[in-house]
Amino acid sequence: MLDTKEMLKMNKAGWDQVADQFFEGSFDDFRYGPYAPTESQLNLLGDIRNNVILEVGCGSGHSLEFFAKNNASELWGVDLSGKQIKTAKSVVSAYDIPIYFIESSMEDIPGLPNNYFDKVVSIYALGWTVDLKKTLSNIFRSLKPRGEFIFSWEHPIHTKLAYENNRFIINGSFLKEGPETVIWREVPVVMHRRKVSTFVNELINAGFVVDQIIEESTIPENDQSNPERWYSGDRAKITPSTLIVKSHKV
Ligand SMILES: C[S@@+](CC[C@H](N)C(=O)[O-])C[C@H]1O[C@@H](n2cnc3c(N)ncnc32)[C@H](O)[C@@H]1O
Repeated sequence: MLDTKEMLKMNKAGWDQVADQFFEGSFDDFRYGPYAPTESQLNLLGDIRNNVILEVGCGSGHSLEFFAKNNASELWGVDLSGKQIKTAKSVVSAYDIPIYFIESSMEDIPGLPNNYFDKVVSIYALGWTVDLKKTLSNIFRSLKPRGEFIFSWEHPIHTKLAYENNRFIINGSFLKEGPETVIWREVPVVMHRRKVSTFVNELINAGFVVDQIIEESTIPENDQSNPERWYSGDRAKITPSTLIVKSHKV
């Protein structure tokens, strides 16, 4: 069994290797993930003008770019992968607001200020944490009172579905949690399995008030996706692909 340092080392090496496959394009409507409703449908972020915003697991920086385009006043991005941070820096380089990057694990973020951010977001990154308690406590302390934390992640029930012989089946227990070393996109990484209730209960334990949980699918009318793919319209018809949770600090 690997310790947390070893897990992070493995995941950092893995993410540096696959980073090129995750360079998102720019978007005008904020996206929470595959087959998820968008910001214009959900209005979770609300008005971000003059907001100071942190993205945890900022990847290639396209969410930060959206915030910059929509008049946030200051942005911070944290990511484990130096390769992702390098791309993110170039994606937001044209914007004339302070944008700071920290190449670090979200479990231990050096230089992260206390009581500073209006909003913290994490899009398809929080579930990568090897220590959910520590990560949530970092996010909590970094938020101003009444600051908001919005995250999205692959819905844990989606993760349990497999497509075999023209039908979806449950592949393993939804109840089994903990780290698993897997080969993902041809690299070894450690993924943690967590239930929806674990995310929500840990938010509550960290001091957050949970405002809204979204487990909906939005499937384009012209969706022609192959049901054998990891994300598909057929799969999203029977389970949400994306879990979104909005919470705040009192
Ligand atoms: C699926 S990508 C999402 C990136 C971005 N938020 C987006 O929506 O495009 C997940 C990101 O989490 C980062 N990551 C994984 N484990 C991490 C950790 N423990 N601490 C910080 N970042 C991590 C990866 O390097 C990767 O950039």
